[in-house]
Amino acid sequence: SAQKTWGGRFRGKASNLMTRINASITFDKRLWRQDIEASKAHATMLRDQGIVGAEDADAILKGLEVIAEEFERDGVPERLELEDIHMTVEHRLTELIGPAAGRLHTARSRNDQVAIDFRMWVRSACDDAISNVRDLQRTLVELADKHAETVMPGFTHLQVAQPVTLGHHLLAYYEMLRRDLSRFKDARDRMNESPLGSAALAGTGFPLDREGTAKALGFDRPTANSLDSVSDRDFALDYLSAAAQCSLHLSRLAEELIIWASPQFGFLELADEFSTGSSIMPQKRNPDAAELVRGHSGRIMGCLTSLMVTMKGLPLAYSKDMQDDKEPVFEAADLLTISLQALGGMVETCEFVTERMRAATEQGFSTATDLADWLVREAGVPFREAHHITGAAVKLAEDRGCGLDQLPLEALKNIDPRIDERVFDVLSVDASVRSRTSYGGTAPDRVREQVAKAKADLGL
Ligand code: ARG
Repeated sequence: SAQKTWGGRFRGKASNLMTRINASITFDKRLWRQDIEASKAHATMLRDQGIVGAEDADAILKGLEVIAEEFERDGVPERLELEDIHMTVEHRLTELIGPAAGRLHTARSRNDQVAIDFRMWVRSACDDAISNVRDLQRTLVELADKHAETVMPGFTHLQVAQPVTLGHHLLAYYEMLRRDLSRFKDARDRMNESPLGSAALAGTGFPLDREGTAKALGFDRPTANSLDSVSDRDFALDYLSAAAQCSLHLSRLAEELIIWASPQFGFLELADEFSTGSSIMPQKRNPDAAELVRGHSGRIMGCLTSLMVTMKGLPLAYSKDMQDDKEPVFEAADLLTISLQALGGMVETCEFVTERMRAATEQGFSTATDLADWLVREAGVPFREAHHITGAAVKLAEDRGCGLDQLPLEALKNIDPRIDERVFDVLSVDASVRSRTSYGGTAPDRVREQVAKAKADLGL
């Protein structure tokens, strides 16, 4: 029984409740691949260092491979009395090869074992995030290319502000995701040190080759302090913080899809594949997936908070509280993956209603700033005065129920005689976006320039 693993000094049996509160196998079984890989590296090193005889070490290595095949085929058995994935593997190894299995844990503790397994898992979660973020970026960039000239209202306070292009708007999210990528990469680089060989907390007297196991498992180097190695979970916090930040960006994009898909905006129609109906209101076409991306973001932030609070008061080195590190990370990783993928699917398949976008831009006096700028540039009017004159023009257009570019020249001249017919060159929304040529501006040429840069970065 499992009691044999650490039961030497005990006489009584564990309470059923003790077994249940202690067990992590129900969730840490997700670490089985990392656990076996790290054990293989450890066993190989023990053999090469002459710490374990070649015959036993080779039996261990073979046994671990058999276990990997079994788990791949049948899944990981969940026996609560075996506590966790580490003891589940070791227990099965003992069944397969007998007492030699007991040599695997030489110069190792579950404390450095879980530290290395979890680090490897989180490292690959970073890789997954990086690849999923890039997929979403690709989708955004392709669409930005297509819509480099599509006019839409740019908003502040959710009120029409100035005309922008849809391509420019989509590229704003590309930029946010670019920073998210760098956060995941940065987290990955920082966590890429191997804690294996730190043993329980103090290191070990056995002549380990920590450089060797670090290399074998794809780490840059071994960690430098054994106490830190078994106590540190900031690699997981770095991941969660990058995930939370990324999900925040996804939530904002999801929110915009929700607003844009509302019939009142009508800027886009979500594809059938990404819409849901109502069980009572037949007309409904709901953006549930986008709402769930927005909702998931809150949960991912909760996962970050959860692990921070778990860690903040712990003395060095290991405490069992740290077993609670895994569920928030698994939860966040699953939520982030589905959010990135579903959002990509929604954006890729939705139909942008470009006429509605244009109409909203034209109705909102979105070129008022262009009129004021024109007065400054062409008539030498101080900007504050130009702002005032333009305000009067907006008021007039509003009273007449027309756009700024539909006001007769006479009416404009009445407001300020310095206005002449050349003003109409800047009053259209197309002229407005064309004129925003500053670096990073919304002019179609600038957008295409950024699209080209993004495509090169993405290898498109
Ligand atoms: N299941 C444990 C965890 O996830 C493994 C480490 C246990 N170490 C110990 N000293 N009890 O944290």
